[in-house]
Amino acid sequence: MHGYAYAAATIAAFFCITHFFHRRLSCRHPLLTDYPILGMLPQLLFNLSRVHDFLTEILKVGTGDFTGPWFTNMNYLITIDPINVHHILSKSFHNYVKGPHFRDIFQAFGDGIFTVDSEPWKYNRDLFHSLFKHKSFEVFLEKTIHNKVRNSLLPVLDYLHQQGCVVDLQDVFNRFTFDNICSIVLGNDPSCLSIDFPEVAIEKAFNQAEESIFYRHVVPRCVWKLQKWLQIGQEKKMTEACKTLDQFIHACIASKREDLSMYKENEKGEAHVDFLTSLMREEAHEDKFLRDAVFNLFVAGRDTITSALTWFFWLVATNPLAEAKILQEMKDKFGTNIEKSSLGVLNVEEVKKLVYLHGAICESLRLFPPIPFERKQAIEADMLPSGHGVDPGTTMLFFMYAMGRLEEIWGEDCLEFKPERWISQKGGIVYVPSYKFIAFNAGPRTCLGKDLSFIQIKMVAAFILSNYRVQVVEGFVATPSLSIVLLMKDGLKVKITKREH
Ligand code: HEM
Repeated sequence: MHGYAYAAATIAAFFCITHFFHRRLSCRHPLLTDYPILGMLPQLLFNLSRVHDFLTEILKVGTGDFTGPWFTNMNYLITIDPINVHHILSKSFHNYVKGPHFRDIFQAFGDGIFTVDSEPWKYNRDLFHSLFKHKSFEVFLEKTIHNKVRNSLLPVLDYLHQQGCVVDLQDVFNRFTFDNICSIVLGNDPSCLSIDFPEVAIEKAFNQAEESIFYRHVVPRCVWKLQKWLQIGQEKKMTEACKTLDQFIHACIASKREDLSMYKENEKGEAHVDFLTSLMREEAHEDKFLRDAVFNLFVAGRDTITSALTWFFWLVATNPLAEAKILQEMKDKFGTNIEKSSLGVLNVEEVKKLVYLHGAICESLRLFPPIPFERKQAIEADMLPSGHGVDPGTTMLFFMYAMGRLEEIWGEDCLEFKPERWISQKGGIVYVPSYKFIAFNAGPRTCLGKDLSFIQIKMVAAFILSNYRVQVVEGFVATPSLSIVLLMKDGLKVKITKREH
């Protein structure tokens, strides 16, 4: 018996030592400590409240392995090297897919464009692309934003000016973009943005689902799987949020089907050009396909714009020189005609003329990319341009937030907000390849809503800046939230006052 125990102890010790040394040898990241059993997770959790800046410091030093606790499957190859990112997203696009782990974590997205690969992705991409690029869609978008600004944003901002109270501008944008995306995707405006700031369960449910997805990135898979099975903690919240969202989306699809059959009878259908209507007219899709398409577009087109607007306004409000230049450009281009010509809201052709504003938005997206990180899974073994080997099945993480703060791309002043870096000597916009300015992704899966985003952000930014002064309250500290979309943790606390024209 004694002999068996001795042999077992020796074998166990042998496995522990070889495992420990194997982990040491494969621990290629010099700044991360690989603790026995727990791997590098403690260091990550210890820095969770400042995770984006922590990873920026780590990844500036180079590409490397992140090793999670034993038996948790939390092992990643992490990089911000633009040449590696170019390789993953473009040159070897077919070898780096979203993969089954991604679909598992992003389960709420169903089989929508964000989560699927190969043929189903291509089908979704071509379909979305054909609907987005239609001129009538741009016209519909312009009209929707114009009406929302005139009929909701303006009265709310005027009300806030009259009240003189502190408001969370991120909440205002959240409501604005939620109404907008509902109008654009479903053709139905839930009126979240109004002076009584109503509680909207769907909007809250979206935020919850995104928070829970982020949580799945930072706890071992077996832990969140167990929580899901037991229906406790974040996973319980996730299930409830998804239930609320599904009920809402399915109700919209059912009512749209009814509308469409009525329109068919009355032959009045042509007036509707929202996304769901176009999709349903295109061909007969099942409800599941429509649900996933709607859900994916809601996440793609709502929080990203809220995030972009919130960080943009914080940066502009805290950089008075840049604000003065944006105002000057609008004055130079349109004089005092804005109010008269377009009821204070510029149209698509007009906002395209605002180069400095465009530069300021790019600068804000560089420093605070709404999607701060992405993951891909390798199908076959590969070698990254940095010389790091990739095994089949390896999960790669790359961090857009950190890439926007990389000295080798942006220079020594990379932490400063300088819209000028985007303005060429001839007064145009400086071209930066998308694998360096990565906010909209790069390669075949580049964001389909990039142009629509600039239109939307510019129309809103030009309207607010030319009509109101936004002052960040004293002592406010802008902290990124822990979510898959980079929002502000405590919102953006400001005071709004009307500008005298
Ligand atoms: C500032 C705003 C936006 C930013 C920064 C942004 C960024 C991104 C990024 C990083 C991706 C890649 C995500 C991934 O593969 O995991 C993406 C994909 C996508 N975006 Fe955007 N997005 C924005 C707005 C929009 C809008 C307004 C729409 C549409 C209404 C949109 C539609 C899409 C779609 C459909 C994809 C999937 C493309 C594919 O996988 O082929 N985005 N976006």
